[in-house]
Amino acid sequence: MTTVGSFARQRESADLTTTAGVREALATTGYVASDELATVVRLAIALDRPLLLEGPAGVGKTELAKALAEAGGRRLVRLQCYEGLDDNRALYEWDYARQLLHVQMLRDRTSAELASAPDLATASAMLANVDFGLYSEAFLAPRPLLDAILSEDPVVLLVDEVDRTEESMEALLLEVLAEKQVTVPEVGTFTARTAPWVVLTSNDTRELSGALKRRCLHLTVDFPTAEIEREIVSSRAPDVEEGVVADVVDLARSLRDLPLRKAPSVSEVIDAARAAMLLGDTASAATREILYSVLLKYASDTELVRARATAPAAPPAPERTVVPSIASAPPNSTTAAFRGRGGRS
Ligand SMILES: Nc1ncnc2c1ncn2[C@@H]1O[C@H](COP(=O)(O)OP(=O)(O)OP(=O)(O)O)[C@@H](O)[C@H]1O
Ligand SMILES: [Mg+2]
Repeated sequence: MTTVGSFARQRESADLTTTAGVREALATTGYVASDELATVVRLAIALDRPLLLEGPAGVGKTELAKALAEAGGRRLVRLQCYEGLDDNRALYEWDYARQLLHVQMLRDRTSAELASAPDLATASAMLANVDFGLYSEAFLAPRPLLDAILSEDPVVLLVDEVDRTEESMEALLLEVLAEKQVTVPEVGTFTARTAPWVVLTSNDTRELSGALKRRCLHLTVDFPTAEIEREIVSSRAPDVEEGVVADVVDLARSLRDLPLRKAPSVSEVIDAARAAMLLGDTASAATREILYSVLLKYASDTELVRARATAPAAPPAPERTVVPSIASAPPNSTTAAFRGRGGRS
């Protein structure tokens, strides 16, 4: 088995060798990438390195892998990580049902062969020497990692939320990502038949090992700039008027600057924009209340936001005056929003 670096099924018009080309190809799927993200994607493809995306919830990490698969004309193979994920779920399992069926189908023939055995012990010894071919590739049930390695057509392998697994799983991943091969002791070693594009995502709930980070191109994906977020919302909710999109994005950005348990994610901003379009009059108190309930996920966060909105204006300070209300909250600091609040609690 050989590694074939073939991107043959890539969308005809997609040029993934330039930053602009990657941006455009992703845009055809509705995904809006910053120049930084598009550049890293392009490098990961050119250098044949896994791409590790870390960042808060809902900033488009998983969606990037889906968009890349669609833009590149590749099948998406997804390994969803969780605590307790083991080799059987990540790598392969033996297909016991098929093995059993196979043995049952051979039953008549086996009985005929064993008829000559004088006693049970001899029959048992005879059986032990028979190779039923049960531990061959035909009876393997590939799980995502082996599926990506065995695939005849190039795939995008998404290892989603890798920070949710234990470190032992990381060791297995490292082996597969570094060697691009999987060893099944009973069968042998399978080397990647095509070059998968690998995307790993993490919510940063725990520090990933240096070894894993070293093997990947690593990018921290933060909340988008206002301009890109408006583009994203317009791409996902094209029916929403520009002015409404701008209002909702501004509102979400001002909320992200507050010490919330969970800062509004891009997907919530998209929902809020749709809701605002239906409700109309984004400036009215009633609409704002509904938007808070779409954008905020904890009662304590809603209370904090209400308190800030109704708090009396602070006395003018000698330097820059910041009035603690939503409408005039200071510009979003995405880094602050990410620290401990963007990720899952
Ligand atoms: N850059 C983007 N372009 C288009 N849509 C986006 C973008 N970023 C986010 N979205 C929208 O936000 C939704 C959530 O994105 P996604 O599921 O990829 O987030 P995530 O970073 O993987 O979050 P989590 O860490 O919770 O899994 C997507 O379904 C998509 O509609
Ligand atoms: Mg995700």
